[in-house]
Amino acid sequence: MPKVTWNDSLSIGVPEIDAQHQRLFALVNEVDEAVQTRHGADIAARALRTLCDYAVEHFAAEEALMNMNAYADYDRHMAAHMDGTTKALEFLQAVDEDKNVDMPAFLAYLAQWVHEHIMDVDQGLGRYLRGVDRSAPTT
Ligand SMILES: [Fe+2]
Repeated sequence: MPKVTWNDSLSIGVPEIDAQHQRLFALVNEVDEAVQTRHGADIAARALRTLCDYAVEHFAAEEALMNMNAYADYDRHMAAHMDGTTKALEFLQAVDEDKNVDMPAFLAYLAQWVHEHIMDVDQGLGRYLRGVDRSAPTT
């Protein structure tokens, strides 16, 4: 998988969240590196678990910000976090149970999910927090 790289179009204009997103990208690349260098499945699985733990922490930070600011699109954003978390936990469970898992395919899926999530719901949150768009969601 090509490295996931950060660029300014991904910024949601909230420095604390942008920093967490950059950390997520770095962790995705660390898992990919572990897979590519064939250190062994256990090292890749450990890196993936670190990434998932951090993602859960990051989601909680976003959810706290949404709560504090009475965010109008909270439910849709929460549902997206739940969806991502559920898929990651299911995959981790399959890894734990030594099922035949396709780590590169899951990682590519995860990288795309994070990118799309930032460009969609997180950008909406960023606009809201910056006071640019505090209207109710249209979807
Ligand atoms: Fe989010």
